[in-house]
Amino acid sequence: MNKQKILVTGGAGYIGSHTIISLSEMTGYEILSADNYSNSSPKTYERIKSITGKDIEHFEVDLSDKKQVEDLFLKNPGITGIIHFAAFKSVPESVAKPLMYYQNNINSLINLLDVGSENGVRNIIFSSSCSVYGNIDSLPVTEETPIGKVESPYAFTKVIGEKILEDALRSLIGINGIALRYFNPVGAHESGRLGELPNQRPSNLVPVITQTAIGKIQKMQVFGGDYPTRDGTCVRDYIHVCDIAEAHVKALNLLISNSSNETFSIFNLGSDKGVTVLEAIKAFEKISGQKLNYEIIERRAGDVESIYSNSSKAESVLGWKAKRTLDEMMASAWKWELHLASK
Ligand code: WQD
Repeated sequence: MNKQKILVTGGAGYIGSHTIISLSEMTGYEILSADNYSNSSPKTYERIKSITGKDIEHFEVDLSDKKQVEDLFLKNPGITGIIHFAAFKSVPESVAKPLMYYQNNINSLINLLDVGSENGVRNIIFSSSCSVYGNIDSLPVTEETPIGKVESPYAFTKVIGEKILEDALRSLIGINGIALRYFNPVGAHESGRLGELPNQRPSNLVPVITQTAIGKIQKMQVFGGDYPTRDGTCVRDYIHVCDIAEAHVKALNLLISNSSNETFSIFNLGSDKGVTVLEAIKAFEKISGQKLNYEIIERRAGDVESIYSNSSKAESVLGWKAKRTLDEMMASAWKWELHLASK
């Protein structure tokens, strides 16, 4: 079988780099990565090599600039698939800078579809998010749960992105696509040599936990203790980043096998378990043996109270199910933080 040349955009980023590792373990794929390093570093490729022994061909590209996307495809003929991770993804930053988010996240997708379809791309996977559901009335969330009133421009770029993809694929003959709605990706590669590496102070819970435990953050805040949940703190569906990575390989295999008669489909990727913030903190303390210094303060604007998934469609159609436990998520995140501290 001739190799499928796959472009991974955002391949130097958190989920992109873990997906490259999963993909590189499969035969039949030639991988290239495009990233603008706005929230990542080319050092990630060295970390990938230290784990896989493989060099990943990579390019610095601003995907929102159509000329740069055209040059990328000109220099690399034969790309048959795209896994599109590259996007700005900070909820609070998107509220502060909405135009930057719409310009970057929407134009990047349009350029990839436009140029890719002119250059033989057959399959595209789009990195979407559970934040498209907004505030949920009924849990767990399935793919049939209506798109909600989203809380941020970031989340809206995912709603718009899914619609652009669906409409484009309906008009473009011979290209199929999948949108994967991640719940809360956390954790790190089991080797401890690759993980989440925010360029500035993290806003997501688990890197805040590990940075508090290692002493980079003196005291962390728990945003809200008065929610109508079992312990007053928000409920989320945490899922190991390696489970997310493996789901991308399953989705790509489905597209390439062409066994799906859908030109566009959507899958939730969650662990189907709701975990409160305090339960996540307790799990970390148990695994790491580190007592966390935290205080409960007022709620954070934009947070939904509870969300967790029903990912049974991914299980039945993709043959994928989250395997790793909350303890494994916390242990891998802590191992990565310790690795960073040892540098
Ligand atoms: C989780 C919970 C916070 C930090 C975000 C994106 C979403 C998706 C996943 C991409 C919340 C609480 C957090 C802290 C806290 N990303 N928290 N103290 O907001 O659920 O989702 O990541 O696909 O699009 O919005 O993740 O980790 O920021 O927060 O109490 O210092 O932890 O209030 O309840 P979130 P998060």
